Amino acid sequence: MSTKRGVLYGIGVGPGDPDLITVKALDILKRVPHIFAAASSKNEYSLAQNVVLKHLPDAQVEQLSFPMTKDKDTLVSAWKANANRTLEFLNSGTDAAFVTLGDPMTYSTFSYLHRTIKQMVPDLRVIIVPGVTSYHAAASLACTPLAEGEESFHLVSGVRNPSRLREILETSENVVVLKTYRSFDDIRRTLEESNLVDRAVCVMRCGLEGETVLQDLRSLTSEQMPYLSLIIVKRKGIGP
Ligand SMILES: C[S@@+](CC[C@H](N)C(=O)[O-])C[C@H]1O[C@@H](n2cnc3c(N)ncnc32)[C@H](O)[C@@H]1O
Repeated sequence: MSTKRGVLYGIGVGPGDPDLITVKALDILKRVPHIFAAASSKNEYSLAQNVVLKHLPDAQVEQLSFPMTKDKDTLVSAWKANANRTLEFLNSGTDAAFVTLGDPMTYSTFSYLHRTIKQMVPDLRVIIVPGVTSYHAAASLACTPLAEGEESFHLVSGVRNPSRLREILETSENVVVLKTYRSFDDIRRTLEESNLVDRAVCVMRCGLEGETVLQDLRSLTSEQMPYLSLIIVKRKGIGP
């Protein structure tokens, strides 16, 4: 008789504050025998892992390396290696979870693992548990609604091209920019040119040590911006 393959769980653990993990996520993590977390190859530090260990200090968490590069071949071979490592457990009948910061279906390494592993094993059973996103936590911290009434809301990550950001700012009432550390100086300049710099708020390290909410974007430079930073822009202005 062949072994029944394990289930892969994609688990969002929230934006970093251990209290923002869901009850459902924690229940699954308590019973899954093996947990994976993403670690960047440049930084062997997984915040998602820290959230898990805060609740389950004895949990087995293995880091999978997702290189921070644009080189497609390097990326594809890392995704395949991570998928194969995960399949070693699943194929032996063991359930496994992959934990990710925020929500697993929003700019998350989980989507790469999920896509690659589903190409290898199309009938694999996958259960995904949503997480509180960074920008939902940041909007609450800054007491700023993300959208009201019939307003639109645009989420974008690391806009390197200022004309693209200008276009987004012209067409959406509310804009959230993730990965602002990449090109903050350009983002600030574009906000200034669009007369929106006073209608933006920057949230850094939301729910973590060093948490900062800053409305004066003019005083900030790219170098001061940690990886965990985002900007909320509202045409009507920041605040309730
Ligand atoms: C790869 S994306 C991950 C998004 C995540 N899956 C989510 O649902 O929020 C990484 C970016 O999310 C934002 N981010 C994640 N956690 C954050 C936090 N605690 N405080 C501020 N920004 C955060 C930053 O813009 C960071 O560069």
